[in-house]
Amino acid sequence: MSTPLSTAQIREKYLQFFESKGHLRLPSHSTVAPDPTTLFTVAGMQPFKEQFMGAPAVFDGVASKRVTTAQKCLRIGDIENVGRTLRHCSLLEMLGNFSFGDYFKREALTWAWEFLTSPEWMGLDASKLHATIYQDDEEAFAIWTQEIGLPPERILRFGADENFWPADAPKEGPNGPCGPCSEIFYDRGPQYGHDTWAAYAETRESARFLEIWNCVFPQYDRQEPLADGTPVLKDLPFKNIDTGMGLERIATVVQDVYDFYSNDVFAPIIARVAELSGQPYEGPQNVSHRVVAEHTRSVSMVIADGSVPSNTGRGYVVRKILRRASRHAYLLGLREPSLYKLVPLVVERMGDAYPELREHQAKIEATIRSEEERFLKTLEGGIQRLGGLLSGLQKGDVLSGDHAFVLYDTYGFPVDLTKEIAEEYGVTVDEAGYAESLENAQNIARAGSKYGKSELFGGSQEALDGLSPTEFVGYDDLQAEGQVLALVGAGERLDHLPAGSEATVILSRTPFYAEGGGEVGDTGRLEWEGGAGVVRDTRKTPQGVFLHDVLVEEGELREGTTVRGVVAGERQAIQRHHTATHLLHAALRAVLGSGVAQKGSLVAADRLRFDFSHGAALSADELAAVETLVSRWISANFAVSWQEMPIAQARAAGATALFGEKYGETVRVVSVEGDVAYAGQPVSSKELCGGAHVRRTGDIGAFVLLSDENVAAGVRRVEALAGEAATAWVRERLNAAAKVAGLLNTSPEGLEGRVTGLQTQLKAAEKEVAAVRRQLAEAQMGGGGAAAQTRERGGFQVAALKLAGIEGNELRAAADKLLDQSGADLVVVAGEKGLVVKATKAAVGRGAHAGQLIGKLAAAGGGKGGGRPDMAQAGITDADAALAALDGAF
Ligand code: SER
Repeated sequence: MSTPLSTAQIREKYLQFFESKGHLRLPSHSTVAPDPTTLFTVAGMQPFKEQFMGAPAVFDGVASKRVTTAQKCLRIGDIENVGRTLRHCSLLEMLGNFSFGDYFKREALTWAWEFLTSPEWMGLDASKLHATIYQDDEEAFAIWTQEIGLPPERILRFGADENFWPADAPKEGPNGPCGPCSEIFYDRGPQYGHDTWAAYAETRESARFLEIWNCVFPQYDRQEPLADGTPVLKDLPFKNIDTGMGLERIATVVQDVYDFYSNDVFAPIIARVAELSGQPYEGPQNVSHRVVAEHTRSVSMVIADGSVPSNTGRGYVVRKILRRASRHAYLLGLREPSLYKLVPLVVERMGDAYPELREHQAKIEATIRSEEERFLKTLEGGIQRLGGLLSGLQKGDVLSGDHAFVLYDTYGFPVDLTKEIAEEYGVTVDEAGYAESLENAQNIARAGSKYGKSELFGGSQEALDGLSPTEFVGYDDLQAEGQVLALVGAGERLDHLPAGSEATVILSRTPFYAEGGGEVGDTGRLEWEGGAGVVRDTRKTPQGVFLHDVLVEEGELREGTTVRGVVAGERQAIQRHHTATHLLHAALRAVLGSGVAQKGSLVAADRLRFDFSHGAALSADELAAVETLVSRWISANFAVSWQEMPIAQARAAGATALFGEKYGETVRVVSVEGDVAYAGQPVSSKELCGGAHVRRTGDIGAFVLLSDENVAAGVRRVEALAGEAATAWVRERLNAAAKVAGLLNTSPEGLEGRVTGLQTQLKAAEKEVAAVRRQLAEAQMGGGGAAAQTRERGGFQVAALKLAGIEGNELRAAADKLLDQSGADLVVVAGEKGLVVKATKAAVGRGAHAGQLIGKLAAAGGGKGGGRPDMAQAGITDADAALAALDGAF
């Protein structure tokens, strides 16, 4: 048997296949979700929601109603299962083909079938494939049974919980595009289980029947249900196609390996985990190896896409995944940072398809390593705490579930590890109590807020009762002294924090800005006599109590201690991005009109992001005009001032407020003390804002506006860079352009002409090759197919012909021509590597079956193949042997 296709080859073949069906290949969108409905991209269709809803299907200036992608997705809903089972991944690649009001069910299903069964593509055994359809989807049923030839008993019907995407969308949402779907399953054989397909109708869970491809037919726009709960499904402007095939799954099937973790991407990473830990990987029982390998792969990708561990939103998820991986590394006996050592392998296995991994490898390794270092310290803190608790207990005692939970929540201590250590003291752990505390905390976290803020307190706000608002001095001072008013960990007040522990610190006075108004929370250091710690994030409660997330590095921190807070230098870069955001907002309103309203923003040290209402993509001229306006403000070096005033006064002064935002009686207004002109009109910037800003516009230094994108209906998103981030970006682009120009022996200015020339040449060459192949085929066929040998076999006239140097499309075209010209009932055309059999309709009516015949010929010719009664193709290695088998085949 030949070597199975690698994961990379399968990905490439999929994209090529759909390109051959007229699809435009687009790069994967980032793992950062393109719209605000999820934190991470979870499906291949997500970047195309607008197109499904009727927006023009134009991508980077190229119009195409058919596109194909391999999309990296992060699915964290059942992260606890990853590693425990053999077929859950948090990072998965979705191979997808999409139609925006172009083709529909027939093409989607027949192409899926062709890709899976054709020997030229995946060459899977058609008799192993099964399908599910939505309960009353007779159209899909007819296509499967009558056009594709799938026996009806291999099709199961399910309701909206299985065969609608998103699952149960009519009842449960989300709003937006949705529709019935048809899923394709592969029967991996009895070695995976003795269940049957019929039984799957009941069990819906099988290791034997693996779902590989979901073909969704989005034709509805799900809207808010009526008051009585009746679902509302409006027809979309047209019918669409959204298919998704999990690359990890198809690779497992094609490579015929037991599970995901044995395929060519994971196996080497798992092997390295075994090598680093000295614990061999022996199979399903080794959960920790899989968690470590899988999670390191996911985290590498999301870090490459710009997410970093933190305590909020996406960063919180990154941290959670990394900590789960670190815990399992610890369980494997690894006591030093080790996950980062797997990054080079991830990059090696996936860097060709996702060059961002290669580009950011150093950053990925450093980020993972430092998070591991911190976490290992925390674990050590947990071991001390647990030691303290255990020494107070007797042999035979039970450690309370609450204690086990606090160890988990504050110190990230896995309960398995707690159990293991407790056992050494002859103590057991109240696992039921632990599970209850865990569930309580999760419920609170889920209900708490989508921004994940409540996690910081481990779910309890009571610990903050009685604290007065913190005095914030950080608009002007980046260092300040304050007193520790409270220490909170896992929802409890603590009287001290030992070195290595992490908890929330509340100060009387602080220079640290608390996340808010789109601006990220400050980081930095706390110093006190005899100790120091790192401030990893800052947030505040609605009552104005500032919460510093602190890791104590040295000494111990006690309530009442006077500490000096030192904000990290990054704040300067954050301020540049914040003032630049105000200028950008004003410039957008000047250039695009006052319909522009802010919908969301992010102000960070390395970039800014701004979402605003606007119906269309920005033209290059508009982008340039906006950027120029901001740059003018920067060069004018106007002063930036801030002032508190009654809200009525702020409104009278024309300050921009956010629609729908609640403001108190007194507001802070940030003004740029000078206007710039656009189209002869003055443009000014004055906004209600609580954020930190530069003193003069010139401090921003430089500004680049990156391109805009769509995030939701009528909402655009722009990203922009200020200061050094802007100049570094420009430098990187210049270097890249120079490098490519060098490769093409031209200058950056000459690139466009050079590439257009090469494209024209390539097209002409492709045409020429196809024409030469056709001529070559015709020359070998002789007029009217004279070169073919026609003989009667089994009551049919069978014409057979061998062609040299002809493959693929041309081989099929030659078979068509021969069938047309020779008058035969069946034609068999063999190239060096492929075989095509075709039968006339009349012959099929008399019982001819091209698919069955080709099976026999291909087997003799060293390959395999199958197909429909009228047309079939196969890959072979020996054309003469295949043709010679004709004699015995009838
Ligand atoms: N959107 C569907 C899924 O994610 C098919 O691409 O399963």
